[in-house]
Amino acid sequence: MKYETDLDFSHLPSPCYVVDERLLRKNLEILKSVEERTGAKILLATKAFSTYKTFPLVGQYLSGVTSSSLHEARLGYEEMGKEVHIYAAAYRDDDFDEIMKYSNHIVFNSIKQWEKFKKRILDYPKHISCGIRINPEYAEVEKDLYNPCAPKSRMGTTLENFQKDCTAETLEGIEGLHFHAMCEQGADTLERILKVVEEKFGPYMHQMKWINFGGGHHITKEGYDIEKLVSCIKHIQETYDVEVYLEPGEAVAIDAGYLVSTVLDTMNNGIDIAILDTSATCHMPDVLEVPYKPYIIGAGEPNEKAYTYRLGSATCLSGDIIGDYSFDEPLKEGTRLVFCDMAMYSMVKNNTFNGINLPSIAIYNEESGLQVVKSFGYEDFKRRL
Ligand SMILES: Cc1ncc(COP(=O)(O)O)c(C=O)c1O
Repeated sequence: MKYETDLDFSHLPSPCYVVDERLLRKNLEILKSVEERTGAKILLATKAFSTYKTFPLVGQYLSGVTSSSLHEARLGYEEMGKEVHIYAAAYRDDDFDEIMKYSNHIVFNSIKQWEKFKKRILDYPKHISCGIRINPEYAEVEKDLYNPCAPKSRMGTTLENFQKDCTAETLEGIEGLHFHAMCEQGADTLERILKVVEEKFGPYMHQMKWINFGGGHHITKEGYDIEKLVSCIKHIQETYDVEVYLEPGEAVAIDAGYLVSTVLDTMNNGIDIAILDTSATCHMPDVLEVPYKPYIIGAGEPNEKAYTYRLGSATCLSGDIIGDYSFDEPLKEGTRLVFCDMAMYSMVKNNTFNGINLPSIAIYNEESGLQVVKSFGYEDFKRRL
């Protein structure tokens, strides 16, 4: 993918995340077309993207949100106002009343968790559809950090545990099964996972009202096989007479935003180095965690262009390095660099390590243009400590 933008970032504060609603809408249109073709419901996983000022737009296309905690559930309820689903590996007693207030679906990690909260759910005045997260023990994710089906995983109930703990009575009130076994993957992977899920849990699937395919579907990425996804969804709907849910995060916000930063200083120590006002560890932690090297508009690989630099931050962490890049012109104090694909898993994971300020947040849409919607300062740093 070639990264370009017609937006003028020069007047923005720095650093600043930018969400381009036109790019978000492009993703949402693809997701909506899957909903329309299949009748499946697609939810935004807010763990990936919680920039709630865009939720009214997201809500025009998707069926709601899926959340990982009380706070995410509340944000989805208050700011989008459509379906709210929640899954957590375990729920806190003192959160649960509020979780029930905000949620339409609650997914439990185990039958034990379901039994613990069952009475409270059944006594609650509103109907809440409950499900169990199953662990098919099959995934094609290489890194254990992102593999919910790795051996000894805490994520979901294996068939052995399901059969051990479940009786007709315990399953009474359970309306759905949820699995999440993918990470940035295609429909061919989904097809293979579904085969395992059906082999193992097929008999239970016939008793359910819905099956949730989790996240990790790279639906909006170029080359994704949408036809195969559609046939996977239809196969499950028709075989088990269930409603199908998908809850992508990344696919909603992929390539829909930027992080604008500025060079603070340059130096040389065996390589030219530029020190930026943004930080991998504070503002784009997945660069270090995944790890990966983000694209910068107008930059090339090292030595591809005339001037190669290592980009680091002003923090004390020696490894707080974004990567080596080359540029047509030498970098100097005040040069602006724009990192791509920074809408997802960046704002939601950022932090103020070293007291580094959080980037502002700007949103572009055709009606309002490019507007800064959030700025942060000392009080935001202090309040967390
Ligand atoms: C249960 C669950 N659902 C949905 C998602 C969203 O995944 P992605 O952003 O990769 O689509 C995740 C990510 O970890 C998850 O754990």
